[in-house]
Amino acid sequence: MQRFYHIKRLALLFLLSGYLMHLSSCTKDEGPLVIKPPPVPGDTMMSYSLEIQAIFDLHCVRCHNQSHPFLDLREGLSYNQLLFTGHLAPYVDTLLPENSILIGRLRGVEYPIMPPDGDHIRPGTIDTIAIWMLQGARNN
Ligand code: HEC
Repeated sequence: MQRFYHIKRLALLFLLSGYLMHLSSCTKDEGPLVIKPPPVPGDTMMSYSLEIQAIFDLHCVRCHNQSHPFLDLREGLSYNQLLFTGHLAPYVDTLLPENSILIGRLRGVEYPIMPPDGDHIRPGTIDTIAIWMLQGARNN
């Protein structure tokens, strides 16, 4: 009988501790629900103004400027054009960058490849733009 009570007490203790753990995990204040961007590929956050715009400046703006009918990639304008105001905006896809118009044109899976005059940009540079998209396509 003594032994039986002992086991019962242990079981009760066990249940109680589980219940307390459950309580404490639920009462923790986790703040508002924030949907985080997917884990950052690579260990640094890309900078739109420093890295992405620099690619456009070097390879694109000689054509993609005020005289281009669809897409102006000049500094200060390119971000809004790509996300909101360009002819086919958005040109970016933060979940599947390879499906975006921008990456599609750069890799040449969408015709015609950009730049169209043979001055193609390196795959590593295109990867940089894809990573920027995966990191949430920020205007940073
Ligand atoms: C030699 C001129 C030239 C250069 C350099 C150039 N483009 Fe283009 N691009 C065009 C022309 C012309 C079009 C429109 C005709 C077309 O879609 O074929 C175009 C279309 C595009 C489109 C589709 C726009 C739309 O709304 O249909 C994208 C995206 C694009 N370019 C991205 C780029 C990027 C990014 C670069 C730089 C890496 C670049 N282009 C460099 C001439 C150029």
